[in-house]
Amino acid sequence: MMRNIVAGNWKSNKSINESREWMNEMSELASELPSDVRVMVAPPTPYLAALAESKPSNVILASQNVSATNTGAYTGEYTAEMLVSCGVSFALIGHSERREYYGDSDSVVVEKISRCVEAGLGVVLCCGEQLEIRKAGTHEDMISAQLNYALNGITDVDPLNFVIAYEPIWAIGTGLTASAEQAGEMHTFIRKLLGEKFGSYRAGQISILYGGSCKPSNASELFANEDVDGGLIGGASLNTADFIKIIIAAGE
Ligand code: PGA
Repeated sequence: MMRNIVAGNWKSNKSINESREWMNEMSELASELPSDVRVMVAPPTPYLAALAESKPSNVILASQNVSATNTGAYTGEYTAEMLVSCGVSFALIGHSERREYYGDSDSVVVEKISRCVEAGLGVVLCCGEQLEIRKAGTHEDMISAQLNYALNGITDVDPLNFVIAYEPIWAIGTGLTASAEQAGEMHTFIRKLLGEKFGSYRAGQISILYGGSCKPSNASELFANEDVDGGLIGGASLNTADFIKIIIAAGE
């Protein structure tokens, strides 16, 4: 089973025209992409339906967010079902920026995961610790609490539709990257947690991505660890040249 995934998270960047250009560039370079890496991108939500029509077939669309609620009187929200109907395959859930600025608490994360599972929308579940926690040496406890809370009540997952992203908050957008050793240790720890929850066979099928200032210059080293299956890429996904270098690194 292929675990390699490189996913771009554009956050609140790019116009619709710039998004289309990015997709065109990816189409032109499609033949250079390794066949053993799933390529995913999460553009701003208003562009998703349009991009689903024009994206190259080897790029999977993800939403940066999803509603915790269902169809109904929820002004401003968009449901997992709506995303599926627009050709979107995954949603990022629990990104640290959502947790910090928009109230996506652990219990909201649980609801969002449920809505995705009900609608058949894939999940990229993000977790990560703050710098203080890393300095205090309690990062494993924090990640274990975050994941156990988010996955409580889930007895099994479809590994094609369920991905974990480990993103140390101190490394996101800061230029600081976890060392390959720090990332590797944490990914191995996360796979062990998944094994306790779902059994080691299933845990071995789940992709665990690293996120936090991953770029062409450090991607190969980070991905060399057997438990680091690729990356969730913010800044370096905005330009196709850098993004493709990272995709190639994940296929090596
Ligand atoms: P970054 O963001 O690559 O710009 O650090 C990663 C993320 O937040 O997903």
